[in-house]
Amino acid sequence: PAAHVVVDPRFPVGRIDRRVFGSFVEHLGRCVYDGIHEPTHPTADADGFREDVLELVRELGISTVRYPGGNFVSGYRWEDGVGPRESRPRRLDLAWHSTETNEVGLHEFARWNAKAGSELMLAVNLGTRGVQEALDLLEYSNVRSGSTLADQRIADGTTEPFAVRMWCLGNEMDGPWQIGHRSAEDYGKLASQTAKAMRQLDPRVQLVVCGSSNRQMPTFGSWERTVLQHTYEDVDLISCHVYYHERNGDLAGFLASAVDMDRFIEDVVATADSVRAELGSSKRIDLSFDEWNVWDQERFEQQDKITDIDSWPYAPRLLEDVYTVADAVVVGNLLISLLKHADRVAAASLAQLVNVIAPIMTEPGGPAWRQTTFFPFALTSRLGRGNALRVELTAPTYPTATLGEVPLVDAVATHDPDTGQAAVFLVNRSTTDAVTVTVDLSGMGELRIAETHTLTDDDPHARNTLEEPERVAPVENKSAVLADGTLTLELPPVSWTAVALR
Ligand code: AHR
Repeated sequence: PAAHVVVDPRFPVGRIDRRVFGSFVEHLGRCVYDGIHEPTHPTADADGFREDVLELVRELGISTVRYPGGNFVSGYRWEDGVGPRESRPRRLDLAWHSTETNEVGLHEFARWNAKAGSELMLAVNLGTRGVQEALDLLEYSNVRSGSTLADQRIADGTTEPFAVRMWCLGNEMDGPWQIGHRSAEDYGKLASQTAKAMRQLDPRVQLVVCGSSNRQMPTFGSWERTVLQHTYEDVDLISCHVYYHERNGDLAGFLASAVDMDRFIEDVVATADSVRAELGSSKRIDLSFDEWNVWDQERFEQQDKITDIDSWPYAPRLLEDVYTVADAVVVGNLLISLLKHADRVAAASLAQLVNVIAPIMTEPGGPAWRQTTFFPFALTSRLGRGNALRVELTAPTYPTATLGEVPLVDAVATHDPDTGQAAVFLVNRSTTDAVTVTVDLSGMGELRIAETHTLTDDDPHARNTLEEPERVAPVENKSAVLADGTLTLELPPVSWTAVALR
């Protein structure tokens, strides 16, 4: 098969907001404890953070980190995580049936962010708490000094305000599993009151209201509409969450997951814009895709769970999916989808960062390594800069069980008008055939191929593990040729490719 792509820097979709390359750290399983934080590890720094993990996080190229949850935040008291460590309470985390020791809280995590070079994005608890506690946390975090809470932060060890800009108004409040789950009406009212009050305290905040937990929720669409009817003028962004996995051996269907993400984004944009029309507002609400990844949720649901009142494990191994090449191709394609919608997706968070459905894995006292999904993220974050460009794609299609006919190939291009650098990202979703792709770059001026990276394997289910941590890695795509303004290259079956042009 063959596919053809035309890209032209005169037709940008939009400027890529670096916050699209965000991630997510939740107090869940071994993400924080025995993940980023392990004071007894040989590489631990003075704060107890693993330097080997920090190095991989920096290589991954994340921009923001959403914290501290997730479902965890809906039962969290932020005050538990500040002040002298030795007197912090041990709490029962109902979301993941674990013990939360609060060894890591706001100050420690802000320090970790500074070391990782990322920006902190906080979520407030609108499950068991409300407007006052959100205000208290904002005052503690962002007011310089002179109020009891600001001065308490200084006394607790951080003189400069944390200056947190992005705030999530709760987490997945449409989900019946969420502590304090509410109807769209009730949540919309609470989110509006919280947002108004937070803005009164700090007008610079950027607020993310909860959209649906996924596109299959029975309230999808109506939830967004009702919530935005209550909050439209109070918030900046609405969240989307989604997790995909290969179901019943349907690899071809799974490889088309980004088609679902495209539709998800377009549905939420349409809903937000229809509320704008209804309200006669001139403001535009953008999307924060603040949880997205591959996660075998079915397997997780089927596992035996501890529910015993006498057993609350510390840092248990939860949601430790080991990713395949096919999973990485899907992750790369989901990034293509996010970039194709750069005009409306202003932020996104790969969920999550370490050990828990994560691109980085660790063993206590042992090594840290890259999962397959690490590579498309790191390369897209490094090479995908400037504007996302509109892509005209001609490709054969194939049938899927849930999404109908979908293109065999997907692609996006980026171009940085400041440096002239460009990149093309492509996937081949065929499970059997290589595809020859021609990319018309004649509008891009003088360019040469600077780097090529293709992630593929004869076994699409190959993985990186503790025993074999470097089994899978991208390789140079030697077929790539750029001549007379046309880039020609071969995409192996089940593959993700990045081409950097300078
Ligand atoms: O990322 C894992 C969980 O998935 C999060 O806690 C929750 O928000 C979502 O359902």
